[in-house]
Amino acid sequence: MKDSVRALAAEFKEFLRTREEDDLMPAAQKAAAHASAPHAAAAPAAQDHLTIEFARAAKPAVAAQAPTHPLPQPPQPAPVETAGCATEASPALSPTEAPMNATEKQALLDQIAEEIRACKRCPLGDTRLNAVPGEGNPAAELMFIGEGPGFDEDHKGRPFIGRAGQLLDKMIAAMGLTREQVFIANIAKCHPMVNPTNPEAHGNDRAPNQGEIAVCRKYIERQIAAISPKYIVALGGVAAKALISDTKSLGALRGKFHLLHLDSVELKAPVQILATYHPAALLRNPNWKKDAWADLQMVMAAMGLKRPQA
Ligand code: URA
Repeated sequence: MKDSVRALAAEFKEFLRTREEDDLMPAAQKAAAHASAPHAAAAPAAQDHLTIEFARAAKPAVAAQAPTHPLPQPPQPAPVETAGCATEASPALSPTEAPMNATEKQALLDQIAEEIRACKRCPLGDTRLNAVPGEGNPAAELMFIGEGPGFDEDHKGRPFIGRAGQLLDKMIAAMGLTREQVFIANIAKCHPMVNPTNPEAHGNDRAPNQGEIAVCRKYIERQIAAISPKYIVALGGVAAKALISDTKSLGALRGKFHLLHLDSVELKAPVQILATYHPAALLRNPNWKKDAWADLQMVMAAMGLKRPQA
């Protein structure tokens, strides 16, 4: 058994432990899932040197369980708070710039990351310790997108590495995937702080405001266009509303697929986006984990992913 597979199985086992805080799946659902879980994972096959093939179930059968719903017409944009933020329109990325192979995708992602690290388009650029462009497989079929970096991410320049990130790792492992197979990023690339003069304070986090999101969104849009994933999981209401361009509550947006439309980039292939709870919210409200797990299972079914063996 390969080390990576063994580690994944251990992650999943830990994920299934009946510890309130870390367990996403309630006991009854676990028992049912164990009874019906398919047991053979397909042997991994290299798609290219950067992409690890997911273990897949028969695609047509599972895809049929996950109907997708096109987005309704987006509502008129609400006025945004733009204090201190640059307001010029983002230059559009021509679809012809979209790269084709993983190496080209990585090169474009590196270029976007450099721009992000140099960005001073809003006040967060002056108060961050590190910009957090995002990381993962440049040819990922699945992206996870959160709202913005917190304390740990600001200190290390990497997304989702704090407590919420550890739960996200378990959610990813429960889907039979690893961080290296997906791409993880945020809408805002710099740490939004309640008190921007004190980046060393814990609990100094806030959601990015509409002006910060408006200025930063060109980066996530270009990252999505570069990676060209098939699916995106939006983590939490801020990311869901920004990406689905809808002001409805997370409760109204989650539990179904939406077709992604971007402002500055024409996508070459359709991208389905599904919203679920932010892992930080799941840590605060463990009773939401069963709904989050149901959301993730919709993505797994659409992707033809099998649950890993315990
Ligand atoms: N919360 C987020 O939304 N993103 C991170 O990277 C960390 C915590």
